Amino acid sequence: MNESIERAAEALRNAKRVAVLTGAGVSAESGVPTFRASDGLWEGHRIEDVATPTGFARDPELVWKFYNARRANVATVTPNPGHLALVKLEEHFGDRFTLVTQNVDGLHQQAGSRNVLEIHGSLRETRCLGCAKVEHRGLEVLEDRPVCPHCGGWLRPNIVWFHEMLPEKIWTDAQYAAGLCDVLLVVGTSAMVYPAASLIPIAKSTRDRGATIIECNLTPTAASREADIGLYGPSGETLPGLLDSLNPQSAIRNR
Ligand code: APR
Repeated sequence: MNESIERAAEALRNAKRVAVLTGAGVSAESGVPTFRASDGLWEGHRIEDVATPTGFARDPELVWKFYNARRANVATVTPNPGHLALVKLEEHFGDRFTLVTQNVDGLHQQAGSRNVLEIHGSLRETRCLGCAKVEHRGLEVLEDRPVCPHCGGWLRPNIVWFHEMLPEKIWTDAQYAAGLCDVLLVVGTSAMVYPAASLIPIAKSTRDRGATIIECNLTPTAASREADIGLYGPSGETLPGLLDSLNPQSAIRNR
């Protein structure tokens, strides 16, 4: 592991631009369930029922109950050392850093990350089916069938469901970040959901030599084949370890 961390730190030292793709695993140590684990979010629910437009059309109250329970869970948790290490990485690279997240929990921003692209939307936002207004509602308690305070239309969670397109501008920016980076860190994702996972081959192939892919996960995944370096362990430990190797001075200062 130490050798892999050192190689990963070396790749970061040589990098001009860095992009990060995160998934549910980065929030697992905060207490937010992942999706595909045996006790994961999809275990007790059929994806078609709670995470598709047809499921919402069929039973909006069930869908809102599911998302309100997720909102209530996120209201009880805080960012973990993995999120905080990514804040430090952004401080190191400044505007040459982009964090692309599949997570809708908002914990990266809560930790202090600034340049965050939420490609799957946000649990903290609603979207009106009538006037299309997107509103930041934080984690306040919402009804099981909330309506728009402006036009009275039905609200839905501002989440990208299965069979839906990603928000165009955010997804374009994410592809640019992947295409331009020298290092792509892939953290806590099973890399099974597209198009998010396509950022990995984009980073690997669109430049002359391709970016270095560093995977941080508990176990190898669908992304491992394309990874140049694997840091296997909880990201709340591996990411701070990587930051310490990248910048030993600040590690000493922060102790
Ligand atoms: N540290 C690092 N990785 C972890 C940790 C941890 N502490 N705990 C779990 N993981 C890893 C798992 O090994 C797994 O590879 O996180 C990954 C979580 O995978 P998924 O549950 O499939 O979540 P994700 O990849 O984010 O799912 C992508 O699918 O369901 C949709 O829209 C939803 O955004 C989500 C997308």
